Amino acid sequence: MAARDPHRFINELDEAAQERLVSRLESRAKDPVFASLFDKYAIRLALPPSAQVLEVGCGTGATLRLLASRDDFTGTAIGVDQCRPFIDAANRFAKAENVGDRISFGIGDAHSLDFPPATFDVVIAHTLISHVTDPARVLSEMARMVRPGGTVAIFDGDYSSLTYAFPDHGFGHQMDVALASATFNNPRIMRDLPRLLPKLGLQLKNAWGDAVVEIGSGRFFKSFAETYVPYVKMANLLPAQAVDVWLSEQLKAMENGTFFAACNYYTYLAHRI
Ligand SMILES: C[S@@+](CC[C@H](N)C(=O)[O-])C[C@H]1O[C@@H](n2cnc3c(N)ncnc32)[C@H](O)[C@@H]1O
Repeated sequence: MAARDPHRFINELDEAAQERLVSRLESRAKDPVFASLFDKYAIRLALPPSAQVLEVGCGTGATLRLLASRDDFTGTAIGVDQCRPFIDAANRFAKAENVGDRISFGIGDAHSLDFPPATFDVVIAHTLISHVTDPARVLSEMARMVRPGGTVAIFDGDYSSLTYAFPDHGFGHQMDVALASATFNNPRIMRDLPRLLPKLGLQLKNAWGDAVVEIGSGRFFKSFAETYVPYVKMANLLPAQAVDVWLSEQLKAMENGTFFAACNYYTYLAHRI
């Protein structure tokens, strides 16, 4: 089977696989380093009082819950995702955290949404754009739905920079490439945004990169490897036995303090002209 990005084809996965992705999204959002990357751009969103915010590809709503917990957010937010079980989980978690009155969730395809033009002050895509079928179309929808002067925020990994140390450098590199292509439809898309955004009437205001790095121990990259290695095997990208050895060596390295993994993440904040 060819590589099939699990988030792009989420609705074709079985219930157990969808549940594993719910857990991955929730554990990732609770990772202090990863959560700090959201804080770093949330503070620069310049949210007006009573801001209306949309997150496209909201998953289980973890990012909007972080937004709702911020003192500078006094408005309301809507999250849209293509996956019903994710939206059900998002509603459950928001209720459990007592933010269900300020954030709501619905089903939709980020390539084509029903909201009228210029509805929102801020439109966010937090690790969505690497997964979608047509990134330019999704960005164009985001540009359509934000009001003039409003902000479009796009945050995602540059998954061609994803790397785990492995003693056999050749196989290690093959595994890095296999993990990126099994998991992401658009592993290099964040490099294209300076070219794409102006074509959509979006003026780049601020952009920066952050490296997520774990040396010695691994938590963020442990969950990443355990979640997505099965998709490398399903796609037959590399011999299954060698992939199993790679994973068990990563877990051993985490236990004995010799682990290393890293990936670059980029944030773009653009204003609607
Ligand atoms: C990696 S998750 C990110 C979820 C959330 N933004 C977060 O950071 O926790 C990617 C999400 O994009 C959603 N997605 C992928 N393609 C989509 C599309 N065309 N329309 C709506 N959602 C989509 C998936 O269902 C999944 O929930």
